[in-house]
Amino acid sequence: MSKIPKAFVTGYPIHQSRSPQIHSYWLDFYRISGSYDPVEITGEHFPFFIHSLKERGFSGGNVTLPYKEQAYALAEKCDEVASHIGAVNTLWFENGILHGGNTDAYGFACNLDDFAPGWEKDTALVIGAGGASRAVLFALKERGYQKIILINRTRGRADYLAQHFGRQIVVANWQSINNYIGEAELIVNTTSLGMKNHIHDQDENQQPVINFAAAKPDVVVTDLVYTPLMTPFLKQAQKTGLKTVDGIGMLLHQATLGFEHWFGIKPQVTKALRSQILTGMGEKEI
Ligand code: ATR
Repeated sequence: MSKIPKAFVTGYPIHQSRSPQIHSYWLDFYRISGSYDPVEITGEHFPFFIHSLKERGFSGGNVTLPYKEQAYALAEKCDEVASHIGAVNTLWFENGILHGGNTDAYGFACNLDDFAPGWEKDTALVIGAGGASRAVLFALKERGYQKIILINRTRGRADYLAQHFGRQIVVANWQSINNYIGEAELIVNTTSLGMKNHIHDQDENQQPVINFAAAKPDVVVTDLVYTPLMTPFLKQAQKTGLKTVDGIGMLLHQATLGFEHWFGIKPQVTKALRSQILTGMGEKEI
């Protein structure tokens, strides 16, 4: 009897993860007998958990906050993206060796391929210089962007990424953000707060941080935050009549590569999957 493949998602906390719903959907859809379960692990137990994956019968799994950097250090072999980003979100065994990959850059690019075909241009503006920003910078470089203006509240973190990612990255000051809006063909928010505290579209007296009115009319604006789906940042851009792409597709697409490793089929990201996940989040299609 062949072994039923099983996979996990771990992080701390893990209850908020949408990944179990995504993978269960595909397991049902493709009629695969396998499992994908959340496993909450506290910090001190994380290395032990990773070392015991084989014993526990896992084919692999996903790693989310706050363990992506630790997973990178613990994987025996890492793919090019994970090595460049320094973080692993997907683990799998190949010939008994624990491999680590990072599928966020792939997910980011596929989401734009779906909803903003032709998005690959020359100049992008990226807001934020945390972990998520690294995946975006990787994807933009890979898809041919020649100038990536990087802006972060803490400038030092952006300077660090510029050194790491090379000549395409141009760092600018947080306060000067509006000087760069008109140059960008793609604007990406990677900050964890989705600019929630910075754009007060209800308050007439409050000057919004981003002056979308200065943007090119065919710019694409996207946000990595997907709770809420229509973030204040996207709302503001949409109000100005700009094309926006929400962040849920990145989550769906990044999951396909892990599923393929563990269960042997490259699953499709469909409208039906998107609707089901949005419903689970209490969100409506926008
Ligand atoms: P992630 O892995 O999700 O990117 P992170 O590494 O903690 O998380 O990075 C969070 C990003 O959101 C950073 O760019 C952070 O800016 P700082 O480097 O200045 O902290 C940004 N961020 C978080 N809260 C913010 C806020 N209130 N205003 C502006 N930027 C904020």
